[in-house]
Amino acid sequence: MKGLLSPSLMCADVLNLERELTVLDDLGVEYIHLDFMDNHFVPNITLDTGLIKATKRVLKRMKRDIHILAFEPQQYFDAMEIGDGDIVSVHYEACENLAEVLSDIRSRGAKPFVAISPDTKPEVLLDYLSMIDGVVVMTVYPGFAGRPIVEGSMEKLAAVRKMLDDSGFDLLMEVDGHVSWDLCGQMRACGADMFVAGSSSLYQKGLDIKDAVARMSELVK
Ligand code: DX5
Ligand code: ZN
Repeated sequence: MKGLLSPSLMCADVLNLERELTVLDDLGVEYIHLDFMDNHFVPNITLDTGLIKATKRVLKRMKRDIHILAFEPQQYFDAMEIGDGDIVSVHYEACENLAEVLSDIRSRGAKPFVAISPDTKPEVLLDYLSMIDGVVVMTVYPGFAGRPIVEGSMEKLAAVRKMLDDSGFDLLMEVDGHVSWDLCGQMRACGADMFVAGSSSLYQKGLDIKDAVARMSELVK
Protein backbone atom coordinates (compact mmCIF):
# COMPACT_ATOMS: atom_id res chain seq x y z
CA MET A 1 0.00 0.00 0.00
CA LYS A 2 1.37 3.46 -0.89
CA GLY A 3 2.08 6.00 1.85
CA LEU A 4 -0.93 8.19 2.71
CA LEU A 5 -0.67 11.95 3.27
CA SER A 6 -2.64 13.62 6.04
CA PRO A 7 -1.85 17.36 5.94
CA SER A 8 -2.27 19.07 9.34
CA LEU A 9 -4.97 21.73 8.95
CA MET A 10 -3.81 23.58 12.08
CA CYS A 11 -0.62 24.40 10.15
CA ALA A 12 -2.46 25.75 7.08
CA ASP A 13 -3.62 29.32 6.45
CA VAL A 14 -6.22 29.50 9.23
CA LEU A 15 -7.76 32.60 7.66
CA ASN A 16 -8.59 30.63 4.49
CA LEU A 17 -9.48 27.12 5.64
CA GLU A 18 -12.19 26.34 3.08
CA ARG A 19 -9.78 27.15 0.25
CA GLU A 20 -7.03 25.08 1.92
CA LEU A 21 -9.36 22.07 2.20
CA THR A 22 -10.63 22.36 -1.38
CA VAL A 23 -7.13 22.64 -2.88
CA LEU A 24 -6.00 19.44 -1.09
CA ASP A 25 -9.23 17.63 -1.93
CA ASP A 26 -8.86 18.52 -5.63
CA LEU A 27 -5.23 17.30 -5.57
CA GLY A 28 -6.50 13.87 -4.50
CA VAL A 29 -4.95 13.97 -1.00
CA GLU A 30 -6.43 11.07 0.98
CA TYR A 31 -6.86 12.53 4.47
CA ILE A 32 -6.96 15.87 6.29
CA HIS A 33 -5.49 15.85 9.80
CA LEU A 34 -7.73 17.74 12.23
CA ASP A 35 -6.20 18.35 15.67
CA PHE A 36 -8.61 19.02 18.53
CA MET A 37 -6.97 20.16 21.80
CA ASP A 38 -8.66 20.83 25.17
CA ASN A 39 -6.00 23.06 26.75
CA HIS A 40 -5.81 20.43 29.49
CA PHE A 41 -4.32 17.25 28.06
CA VAL A 42 -2.06 19.61 26.10
CA PRO A 43 -1.64 23.33 26.90
CA ASN A 44 -3.16 24.53 23.63
CA ILE A 45 -6.46 25.01 21.83
CA THR A 46 -6.58 24.58 18.04
CA LEU A 47 -9.50 23.63 15.75
CA ASP A 48 -12.82 23.56 17.63
CA THR A 49 -15.62 20.97 17.33
CA GLY A 50 -17.79 23.27 15.22
CA LEU A 51 -15.06 23.73 12.64
CA ILE A 52 -14.31 19.99 12.57
CA LYS A 53 -18.02 19.34 12.00
CA ALA A 54 -18.20 22.05 9.30
CA THR A 55 -15.43 20.40 7.26
CA LYS A 56 -18.01 17.76 6.25
CA ARG A 57 -19.85 20.43 4.26
CA VAL A 58 -16.89 21.06 1.94
CA LEU A 59 -15.05 17.72 1.71
CA LYS A 60 -15.77 15.84 -1.52
CA ARG A 61 -13.42 12.83 -1.58
CA MET A 62 -10.84 13.58 1.14
CA LYS A 63 -11.55 11.88 4.46
CA ARG A 64 -11.19 13.27 8.01
CA ASP A 65 -8.29 12.11 10.19
CA ILE A 66 -9.42 13.51 13.57
CA HIS A 67 -6.75 13.60 16.30
CA ILE A 68 -8.30 14.31 19.72
CA LEU A 69 -5.69 15.55 22.17
CA ALA A 70 -8.14 15.80 25.05
CA PHE A 71 -9.21 13.99 28.20
CA GLU A 72 -12.44 11.93 27.94
CA PRO A 73 -12.75 12.45 24.15
CA GLN A 74 -16.23 10.86 23.92
CA GLN A 75 -17.76 14.12 25.11
CA TYR A 76 -16.86 15.71 21.76
CA PHE A 77 -17.99 12.98 19.32
CA ASP A 78 -21.52 14.31 18.74
CA ALA A 79 -20.34 17.89 18.21
CA MET A 80 -17.83 16.72 15.60
CA GLU A 81 -20.48 14.53 13.93
CA ILE A 82 -18.11 11.54 13.85
CA GLY A 83 -19.23 8.94 11.33
CA ASP A 84 -18.49 6.82 8.28
CA GLY A 85 -15.05 7.21 6.74
CA ASP A 86 -13.55 9.18 9.63
CA ILE A 87 -10.39 8.07 11.39
CA VAL A 88 -10.70 9.08 15.06
CA SER A 89 -7.51 8.92 17.13
CA VAL A 90 -7.75 9.16 20.92
CA HIS A 91 -4.83 9.24 23.32
CA TYR A 92 -4.05 6.19 25.46
CA GLU A 93 -2.92 8.63 28.16
CA ALA A 94 -6.22 10.57 28.14
CA CYS A 95 -8.91 7.87 28.48
CA GLU A 96 -10.24 6.35 31.73
CA ASN A 97 -11.88 3.49 29.83
CA LEU A 98 -10.13 3.25 26.45
CA ALA A 99 -11.96 0.08 25.37
CA GLU A 100 -15.32 1.82 25.80
CA VAL A 101 -14.14 4.88 23.84
CA LEU A 102 -12.87 2.72 20.97
CA SER A 103 -16.12 0.76 20.85
CA ASP A 104 -18.09 4.03 20.75
CA ILE A 105 -16.04 5.23 17.75
CA ARG A 106 -16.62 1.92 15.96
CA SER A 107 -20.36 2.04 16.72
CA ARG A 108 -20.53 5.38 14.89
CA GLY A 109 -19.07 3.82 11.73
CA ALA A 110 -15.65 5.46 12.15
CA LYS A 111 -12.19 3.88 12.35
CA PRO A 112 -10.75 3.86 15.89
CA PHE A 113 -7.02 4.60 16.27
CA VAL A 114 -5.01 4.89 19.50
CA ALA A 115 -2.36 7.63 19.75
CA ILE A 116 0.65 7.31 22.07
CA SER A 117 2.82 10.18 23.23
CA PRO A 118 6.63 9.97 23.15
CA ASP A 119 7.01 8.79 26.78
CA THR A 120 4.42 6.00 26.42
CA LYS A 121 5.74 2.50 25.72
CA PRO A 122 4.29 0.67 22.66
CA GLU A 123 3.43 -2.39 24.80
CA VAL A 124 0.46 -0.55 26.34
CA LEU A 125 -1.28 -0.98 22.96
CA LEU A 126 -1.23 -4.79 23.05
CA ASP A 127 -4.56 -5.08 24.88
CA TYR A 128 -6.31 -2.91 22.28
CA LEU A 129 -5.01 -4.21 18.93
CA SER A 130 -8.17 -6.23 18.30
CA MET A 131 -10.33 -3.12 18.79
CA ILE A 132 -8.56 -0.66 16.46
CA ASP A 133 -7.68 -0.03 12.82
CA GLY A 134 -4.42 1.74 13.52
CA VAL A 135 -2.12 3.63 15.85
CA VAL A 136 -0.69 7.15 15.86
CA VAL A 137 2.92 7.39 17.03
CA MET A 138 3.65 10.92 18.24
CA THR A 139 7.23 11.78 17.31
CA VAL A 140 7.05 15.17 19.04
CA TYR A 141 5.66 16.13 22.43
CA PRO A 142 2.09 16.91 21.34
CA GLY A 143 0.28 20.22 21.40
CA PHE A 144 2.13 22.55 19.09
CA ALA A 145 3.36 22.64 15.51
CA GLY A 146 7.05 23.15 14.85
CA ARG A 147 8.41 21.04 17.71
CA PRO A 148 11.64 19.03 17.28
CA ILE A 149 11.54 15.26 16.79
CA VAL A 150 12.01 13.28 20.02
CA GLU A 151 15.23 11.25 20.18
CA GLY A 152 14.63 7.54 19.56
CA SER A 153 11.52 8.11 17.44
CA MET A 154 12.75 6.05 14.49
CA GLU A 155 13.49 3.08 16.75
CA LYS A 156 10.04 3.49 18.31
CA LEU A 157 8.38 3.55 14.87
CA ALA A 158 10.19 0.33 13.91
CA ALA A 159 9.24 -1.33 17.22
CA VAL A 160 5.56 -0.40 16.86
CA ARG A 161 5.56 -1.62 13.23
CA LYS A 162 6.95 -4.99 14.37
CA MET A 163 4.38 -5.22 17.16
CA LEU A 164 1.52 -4.50 14.72
CA ASP A 165 2.81 -6.99 12.15
CA ASP A 166 3.34 -9.71 14.81
CA SER A 167 -0.25 -9.24 16.02
CA GLY A 168 -1.72 -10.71 12.83
CA PHE A 169 -4.17 -7.80 12.60
CA ASP A 170 -4.18 -5.52 9.55
CA LEU A 171 -3.26 -2.25 11.28
CA LEU A 172 -2.06 1.12 9.96
CA MET A 173 0.71 3.14 11.61
CA GLU A 174 0.39 6.93 11.40
CA VAL A 175 3.31 9.21 12.31
CA ASP A 176 2.53 12.65 13.72
CA GLY A 177 5.08 15.32 14.50
CA HIS A 178 8.07 16.78 12.65
CA VAL A 179 7.41 14.75 9.51
CA SER A 180 10.04 16.74 7.64
CA TRP A 181 11.39 16.56 4.11
CA ASP A 182 14.60 14.91 5.26
CA LEU A 183 13.01 12.44 7.73
CA CYS A 184 9.79 11.28 6.03
CA GLY A 185 11.60 8.73 3.85
CA GLN A 186 13.24 7.22 6.94
CA MET A 187 9.86 7.16 8.72
CA ARG A 188 8.46 5.28 5.72
CA ALA A 189 11.36 2.82 5.90
CA CYS A 190 10.51 2.25 9.59
CA GLY A 191 7.04 1.13 8.48
CA ALA A 192 4.82 4.22 8.70
CA ASP A 193 1.73 4.15 6.45
CA MET A 194 0.26 7.62 7.10
CA PHE A 195 2.14 10.90 7.42
CA VAL A 196 0.88 14.00 9.23
CA ALA A 197 2.40 16.75 7.09
CA GLY A 198 2.59 20.08 8.90
CA SER A 199 4.96 22.98 9.38
CA SER A 200 8.00 20.72 8.89
CA SER A 201 7.04 19.98 5.28
CA LEU A 202 3.91 20.96 3.32
CA TYR A 203 3.31 24.18 5.24
CA GLN A 204 6.81 25.57 5.20
CA LYS A 205 6.76 29.20 4.10
CA GLY A 206 6.79 29.96 0.40
CA LEU A 207 6.08 26.45 -0.91
CA ASP A 208 3.56 25.84 -3.68
CA ILE A 209 1.14 23.32 -2.14
CA LYS A 210 0.70 21.42 -5.41
CA ASP A 211 4.46 20.90 -5.79
CA ALA A 212 4.84 20.12 -2.07
CA VAL A 213 2.11 17.45 -2.18
CA ALA A 214 3.68 15.86 -5.27
CA ARG A 215 7.13 15.89 -3.63
CA MET A 216 5.90 14.39 -0.34
CA SER A 217 3.84 11.73 -2.14
CA GLU A 218 6.96 10.68 -4.00
CA LEU A 219 9.08 10.57 -0.82
CA VAL A 220 6.61 8.31 1.04
CA LYS A 221 5.23 6.24 -1.84
C1 DX5 B 1 1.19 18.26 17.01
C2 DX5 B 1 0.11 18.03 15.99
C3 DX5 B 1 0.59 17.90 14.55
C4 DX5 B 1 1.70 18.85 14.19
C5 DX5 B 1 2.36 18.47 12.87
O1 DX5 B 1 0.68 18.03 18.29
O2 DX5 B 1 -0.57 16.83 16.30
O3 DX5 B 1 -0.50 18.04 13.67
O4 DX5 B 1 1.21 20.12 14.15
O5 DX5 B 1 3.08 19.53 12.39
P1 DX5 B 1 4.67 19.71 12.57
O6 DX5 B 1 5.26 19.32 11.24
O7 DX5 B 1 4.83 21.18 12.83
O8 DX5 B 1 5.12 18.87 13.71
ZN1 ZN C 1 -2.05 15.60 15.26
